[in-house]
Amino acid sequence: MTLDEKIVLMHGVNAMKGTVETGFDWAVPPKEYVGVAPPIKRLGIPSLKLADGRAGVGNDAKDITLLPAPIAAASSWDTGLLHEFGRVLGEEQWGKGTNVELGPSIDVVRVPEWGRTFESYGEDPYFNGQMAAAEIKGIQSQGPIADANMYLTMNQESDRFRADSVVDERTLQEIYLPPFEASVKDGHVGTFMCAYVKTNGVYSCENAHILRDLLKTQLKFDGWVMSDWGATHSTVDCANNGLDQQMPDDTFYGAALKKAVVDGKVSVATIDEHVRRILVPMFRQGLFDKTQPGKWTSNVRSPQHDVFSRSVAEQGTILLKNDRALLPLQPTATIAVIGAAGDKTPKIEGGGSSAVIAPYTVSPLEGIRKRAGAQVNYADGSDLAQAAKTAGAAQFAIVFANTDETEGDDRPDLVLPSKQDQLIAAVAAANKQTIVVLDTGGPVLMPWAGQVAGIIEAWYPGQEDGNAIAAILYGDVNPSAKLPLTFPRTAAEIPTAKKEQWPGVDGHSQYSEGLNVGYRWYDATNTQPLFPFGFGLSYTTFQFSHLSVEPAELELRSGAAAGKVTVKVDVTNTGKRKGAEVVEVYVGHPPANGEPPHQLRAFAKVQLEPGQTKPVMLELDERSFSIFDVSQGRWVSQDGRYEILAGDSSRDLTLHSSITVEHAGVSR
Ligand code: BGC
Repeated sequence: MTLDEKIVLMHGVNAMKGTVETGFDWAVPPKEYVGVAPPIKRLGIPSLKLADGRAGVGNDAKDITLLPAPIAAASSWDTGLLHEFGRVLGEEQWGKGTNVELGPSIDVVRVPEWGRTFESYGEDPYFNGQMAAAEIKGIQSQGPIADANMYLTMNQESDRFRADSVVDERTLQEIYLPPFEASVKDGHVGTFMCAYVKTNGVYSCENAHILRDLLKTQLKFDGWVMSDWGATHSTVDCANNGLDQQMPDDTFYGAALKKAVVDGKVSVATIDEHVRRILVPMFRQGLFDKTQPGKWTSNVRSPQHDVFSRSVAEQGTILLKNDRALLPLQPTATIAVIGAAGDKTPKIEGGGSSAVIAPYTVSPLEGIRKRAGAQVNYADGSDLAQAAKTAGAAQFAIVFANTDETEGDDRPDLVLPSKQDQLIAAVAAANKQTIVVLDTGGPVLMPWAGQVAGIIEAWYPGQEDGNAIAAILYGDVNPSAKLPLTFPRTAAEIPTAKKEQWPGVDGHSQYSEGLNVGYRWYDATNTQPLFPFGFGLSYTTFQFSHLSVEPAELELRSGAAAGKVTVKVDVTNTGKRKGAEVVEVYVGHPPANGEPPHQLRAFAKVQLEPGQTKPVMLELDERSFSIFDVSQGRWVSQDGRYEILAGDSSRDLTLHSSITVEHAGVSR
């Protein structure tokens, strides 16, 4: 390759500017894709065509499927579902001619107000890693290269183009890096997107520590890093510190990069490494071998994908409260549907670059009317008295409440906007059988939680909104989802309540909570959440029993891979309906390790008929018994007694056991 050819691969061509790359094969680059790199015909290198898509093909694509928000998919706690989620997304992207899918978004949710919470999977590093790897494999099975983002510490939208995440190395390694690690090791992801923010004072896309030391050396990532749109701030620093490709244009990686090479500021060897990193995943994904007939205008929808979208919404909807087992509804019950999201403006997706043009929307009112066998009335809630009257006249009132969440903005607080709290309180006062359905992208405060009979978190449910919520409300589907993040009781009781932590002071966000992110903080400070991480109800009941941990003593030898630990739990469906339960296994470290009280290290979902018992086997790896030792710069397993806790939420761990880890007399 000539230097020009190499450099052409290292940046996007700004379709908006209509740039013409002389000597290459596009007179006018296709405008549809949000990022493109031109083909190099002489060498048979295909073009790269990038499109957004966390819940469907984005960038104003038509004739595609709108899936529920990723946070909903993750709430299934089902990696098989995430694989299928990725598969459907990958198939539609490939059908649109896309060969790099900009997703998934895998950052740990640190700040509950974060505007991109809905795009992510939640607040646990291990959990996010499992979900990420599954979705990436699904996407890449269909042709496109997945681009996991945003690397690293992209945990707020406030001041996102400049914000500096001030975070200690151990926290970086133990909380923020693991989803990216799993994407490399289990997901075999082809590319990552470096973020807008800085980590410890240095912009992500020129941060030698996070790009070179962590990603490329420690995690042995052999693919490429592209910049987020506008996240490149230099030529020489970016090129020398690990940015392989600038997107979406050539401001720093076009003529300026060529000059830097000519001037000897960036070596040819460095350029070669960047180019190799871009080409390797392209070869691995078969981009040189396959033809991709699809075009941006192709219709990639299918009845199967509509069904799948509904199924994700059903499996991602969480039953949080169900007093007196009022749910599921009887078809004969009269219903009042209340709230704008109930029909007028259903809240089916979040905003920003992940937004998708839905092919259709089934509103909750439509879905419920189709399913109900009795009168269903509607009030949009703009008139409180009217809403209360409508609610009072029905046997059940179902209030739909929502938040708007979008890239570029954090929510100002966790309060439901537009006086929806008042609406819910008014309806609850008029009808003792009030159920609240939340279409939010993240946690909200619920001052009315004690006054309503039922609460459901349906997230942003996608195009099949109404059909999915009706299936849950009437019990055609038994809810089985669990929270992938904590819902707090009050604004003061969140891990990042101080201004220094979020949105930051003088451009710095102090990660002073350290390892105590999400439920780790609630546990460490003995703070009672409103609904804990891992929590979710069902229309049936389950019992966990017979926890066994084998071996009870784990001998680790330095240099040798540790034997795996097997955890077994029996789960019984003690109710009258078939249903699915998640077994969650947490590990508590010995105090000397300085870890949060307990941390999720394994989970599995199991389907059970009424009365049925199934043994569930899970594995714990050596990482479960390790901490990141900053002085050694690596994960090191530690001697001591570890608690093994199993249950159905982070706050309901009824089964306890322990394991002793001992190194076999070899120096570490
Ligand atoms: C977002 C990315 C997105 C890109 C291209 C950026 O603003 O942060 O997630 O992929 O735009 O649309």
